[in-house]
Amino acid sequence: MRSSIGSPEFADSFMIETLNEFGLAVRYVRAEGNTLYHVAEDGTEVGVFDAAGGFGSLMFGHHHPQIVAHAKWLLDQQTPVHTQLAGYTFALNLAAELNTVVRRELETEDRFFAHFGNTGAEAVEIAVKHAELERGMRIAGLRDEIAGHVEQARRAVARGAALSEAAAAFAHGGGFEDLVAEVTRRNAVTGQRPPLLLALEGGFHGKLIGSVQLTYNEAFRAPFKALAAQTRFIPRDRPELIAKVVEEERATLWDVVVRDGVVEVAERDFPVFTAFVVEPIMGERGIVPLSARLARALREACDTIGVPLVADEIQCGMGRSGTFLAGTQIGLRPDYIVLAKALGGGIAKLGVVLINEHRYQKEFEMMHTSTFGRDGFSSLVAVKVVQMLEAEDGKAYQLAAERGAKARAMMEAIKADYPDVVKDVRGKGLMLGFEIHKQSGSASPEIREATEHEALSYIIGGHLLRKHRVRIFSTASSDETLRFEPSIYLSDEEIAQVDVAFRDVCQILQDQDASRFA
Ligand code: F0G
Repeated sequence: MRSSIGSPEFADSFMIETLNEFGLAVRYVRAEGNTLYHVAEDGTEVGVFDAAGGFGSLMFGHHHPQIVAHAKWLLDQQTPVHTQLAGYTFALNLAAELNTVVRRELETEDRFFAHFGNTGAEAVEIAVKHAELERGMRIAGLRDEIAGHVEQARRAVARGAALSEAAAAFAHGGGFEDLVAEVTRRNAVTGQRPPLLLALEGGFHGKLIGSVQLTYNEAFRAPFKALAAQTRFIPRDRPELIAKVVEEERATLWDVVVRDGVVEVAERDFPVFTAFVVEPIMGERGIVPLSARLARALREACDTIGVPLVADEIQCGMGRSGTFLAGTQIGLRPDYIVLAKALGGGIAKLGVVLINEHRYQKEFEMMHTSTFGRDGFSSLVAVKVVQMLEAEDGKAYQLAAERGAKARAMMEAIKADYPDVVKDVRGKGLMLGFEIHKQSGSASPEIREATEHEALSYIIGGHLLRKHRVRIFSTASSDETLRFEPSIYLSDEEIAQVDVAFRDVCQILQDQDASRFA
């Protein structure tokens, strides 16, 4: 028996009202592969090609039989799901699987310690928390060093060392203990400074209190600014600005040193930044792959600043780009890797952070825990997913690359036929963006107006769904870019279906005839 879907009396009423304006609110009742089914008025099932692919969480499509069978088997076996504080959990198996793949791709022997959460945003926040623990350690180290120097100086003063002119001025004309008091006071003020994060303009890293501050889109981020650490955003084509931002935010701790028998004050850089978080292929920005040049610049910058480079592979990772990590293709050398979405095989919900052993703070294991993090069911579903990706010499990666190339060629051909409508086709593997030119200059008032209200993508989405049975949306921060992220089982027929559908939209936009939107 199939249960029916309820009415929006107690949830999502505003969202459904909004989607309904464009015919986008649908009761899907069944899902299989790349197809979602709803029931027509005459009671028959209608299949829709799902190019949204769970926003990138369905590498193997809806309800892959192997994943479903494995999940059922896990439950039938009475596999322990909740064994908090047992130490040994099935999450260890997942950590081992992930290490094999990640170490191969990054060509390193380094171990990556895994830490588990439930969603993408949560995993990002776990990464940031761990990075903040690292920053705290760096600050504590600096403070210890300074305290040691103060002791040395105190002994030197006892032996007759004098204060330099600058040190005396610092002490407001007083003696050594006044100098120490002033240094301590100033360092305490600097220590109060809230940390800052670094990310790229256009980036998307989730919507929880902390992670939303790494998400560039103002509409999502601005109302919640007061709740969490702030981010300095860097344009991805201007990595040289990182140094400028670092200089602008520079803060110092004061140190007391003895040089040539004279007590001096010296400045030490205070670790202001916690982490640099980037997506190797920027999803919500409109499917924008980062360049190898930027990957190098990011590594250098993070080494200079001393912060971990965090690769948010939540959307682009798990093989979607044609390699397990999208960063592999641009030579990105991250310290932390964050995975979620497709890791759960479309049925489990989990996120994971992999932290390079050289930066790993083991205390974190007892500090950050959650009820559902590292649960047995999700962990073992994810193990299965990773094994499926790796099976047959990485056939899934090859499929992502090959099917993606075929879909991309279809889109490129449309662009060649509609150069005035299609602006760009971007992406890697099965993470493709189909960007149309902004239609602000359209002769059609409806199209112009919809563009102004950022509603055109919804109109196009509604048309594609109703007329062509293709489910696709624009990305959150690039209204003109349709995001194409189906599973690796994308068929030639589905590509042909999208070809017809996209061409129809291009023709309508070229003719500037909104009346033809279904
Ligand atoms: N990082 C990236 C790169 C994402 O694309 C997302 C989610 C997240 C983090 C947050 O993960 O939703 O599990 O908390 N992107 C969704 C999308 C919202 O539309 O692609 P989450």
